[in-house]
Amino acid sequence: MGAYLKPLSVVVALLALLTAVWWQSRGPDAALETRLHEALFAFEVSDTALNRDVLLARAGLLRRYDSLAQGRHDLRRALRALRATDAGGAEFVASDGALEHLETALAEKTALVDYFKSDNALLRNSLMYFNTAGQALRGAALAASETGLAAEVGVLSHAMLRYMEAPQAHVGQEIKAILDRLPPAPASFRADLNLLVIHGRLIVDFLPRADGLLRQIVDAPTAAGVRALRDRVNGHFDRAEARAGIFRLLLYGIAVLLLGYLIHLFARLQLNARNLRRANADLQREMLERRQVEAALRESEQRLRHSQKMEAVGTLAGGIAHEFNNFLAPILGYTELVLAGLPRDSRPRQQLEKVLAAAKRARAVVGKILTFSRRGESARKPVELQRVASEAVQLLRASLPATIAIDESLRVESGWVEADADQLQQVIINLGANAAHAMPDGGTITVRLEPATVELPADADLPRLKPGRYLRLSLSDTGCGMDQATQARIFEPFFTTKETGKGTGLGLAIVHGIVSDHGGAIEAASTPGQGSTFTVLLPRAEAGAGVELGEEPAVALGRGETVLFVDDEPALVELGEAMLAALGFKGIGVAGGQRALAAFRAAPRRFDLVITDQVMADMSGLELAAAIRRLRPDIPIALASGRSDARLTEQARQHGIQEILKKPLLSRELNECAARALARTPAGVSRKPPESGGR
Ligand SMILES: Nc1ncnc2c1ncn2[C@@H]1O[C@H](COP(=O)(O)OP(=O)(O)OP(=O)(O)O)[C@@H](O)[C@H]1O
Ligand SMILES: [Mg+2]
Repeated sequence: MGAYLKPLSVVVALLALLTAVWWQSRGPDAALETRLHEALFAFEVSDTALNRDVLLARAGLLRRYDSLAQGRHDLRRALRALRATDAGGAEFVASDGALEHLETALAEKTALVDYFKSDNALLRNSLMYFNTAGQALRGAALAASETGLAAEVGVLSHAMLRYMEAPQAHVGQEIKAILDRLPPAPASFRADLNLLVIHGRLIVDFLPRADGLLRQIVDAPTAAGVRALRDRVNGHFDRAEARAGIFRLLLYGIAVLLLGYLIHLFARLQLNARNLRRANADLQREMLERRQVEAALRESEQRLRHSQKMEAVGTLAGGIAHEFNNFLAPILGYTELVLAGLPRDSRPRQQLEKVLAAAKRARAVVGKILTFSRRGESARKPVELQRVASEAVQLLRASLPATIAIDESLRVESGWVEADADQLQQVIINLGANAAHAMPDGGTITVRLEPATVELPADADLPRLKPGRYLRLSLSDTGCGMDQATQARIFEPFFTTKETGKGTGLGLAIVHGIVSDHGGAIEAASTPGQGSTFTVLLPRAEAGAGVELGEEPAVALGRGETVLFVDDEPALVELGEAMLAALGFKGIGVAGGQRALAAFRAAPRRFDLVITDQVMADMSGLELAAAIRRLRPDIPIALASGRSDARLTEQARQHGIQEILKKPLLSRELNECAARALARTPAGVSRKPPESGGR
């Protein structure tokens, strides 16, 4: 409310000022001015008419004096009209006594007119008698032959005529002299002579007086008074007009100022509107950014929860898989041993081969679980992704029905990645198998590989990736596609839409695990009924020396070399000894780390190779290896573990151990591992010659 008070009072003040200036800028009252001029004119006309009538009366041309009375009446009425304007806004007319002067002048004039009227009437009467008597006397004198008298009367009439025209004093004297010397007339004309003398003398006396009155009437100050009043009226109205002109100019000035202010306000309004629009746009942008950030946050929270879930499932599955590996070890090992001693086509051998096949499948599933839980063995080297992908596609092609075509677009210059080639192959094969499964009636799988760059840390599609150079591997199919609900769960371990027993639901979970382990990301896009595309991004590495893929390991059976085999499970020690023996090595099994160390210390030079389990109750395989290396630095050591991963591989490498054996042991792997480890004995260090001849 207070905020409006100030502008409101300014508006009210401005309105008051404008009203006042407008009021002053009105011109003088034109109607009043007209009325005043009309009254003055009427007065003037009546005054002039009175003068004219007086002159006519003097000339004897006015038969009656009614017009004189009328003239006086008209003058009084005009004066009343002037008086009335006094109340109608023309006070200035009466002020200063101007109107009173006029009134007085008029009163004096009317009094003079009254005197003139009676004098003139007398004069006219005398003149009539004088003329009549003169004519009668002259006629009688002529008839009586009184020629002297007739001549005198003729001279008298003539003098009187001149006197009437211009009443000069000497003419008056002349008339009076003639009258005085008129001879006495006979009794018959005496009456006329007396009339002539009496009226002649009267005329001579009265005519100058009547003419004096006439002059006074004509010269009365009424006309001057009217002129003065008119000047007064004109002056007043001229001044009022000039004043109104000044205020009109002021009004114009105020209007110009207000217009200027209005233009200024309009410009400010425009500027404010522009600023407002800009601020609004900024706000909109900020809101959009905020919404985007919130969405990204929600998504990353969701991913975090998902990856925590995967982590938990992985830990659980990994633990169980490890235990299973321990159960599988004797099954596989002893089956292989027993098989070796059975004749080729015997029935027990055929049955045992089935046991071995089942156990191997079980080992493969456990391997899958361990890969998923990131505990599988991972040997990272720079690999050329194009070669890995090409080989994987060949494998796929061989395993897929002819109704499925593979369109391959792998750019040769794509580049290298630091990766485990086997795992990358597994990625492509798992994705390919899923694609094929989605196209039971056939279709096309398109595999593409191309370089890619991730520009921003918060890349819209793959937000977890750091900016940098990547390789994009994508695999599309023309299959059944997936709905949103399925897409949301595909990377969950054990999620499958296949019939029970047909799919484990681990394929994509493993793919996801492998890709994440390699610092990459995977995304799926799909439209139900139209197909799916899986896109994998892997960080590029510097080009490596090249890796022989599918390299066949050298077959090198033992030549009687002594191998210290260590495990804390006596059953596995026994199995190890037996397997080594079957492979041509001399296996000396010891249960437990401490006991193994004691045996080695007793005769360090006795052994050519040490194979030790990593996880043991009294000491770890790495600790044992370190202790043995202190006794004999050149001894080759291989580590066996069901839980080998990148960290373990790295730790082993720090201890100078290059070979890691996957538990449960398989004869072929044990054979190759032992052969490789023996071949890696540092050069220049003499190896103990075999005690017995090799096989
Ligand atoms: N290319 C695809 N087209 C349509 N659906 C797919 C595709 N790839 C995966 N899926 C869906 O994702 C689910 C999970 O796939 P995943 O590979 O993890 O398990 P699986 O294929 O069912 O089992 P397994 O891989 O052990 O044989 C599938 O059951 C299927 O519903
Ligand atoms: Mg699958």
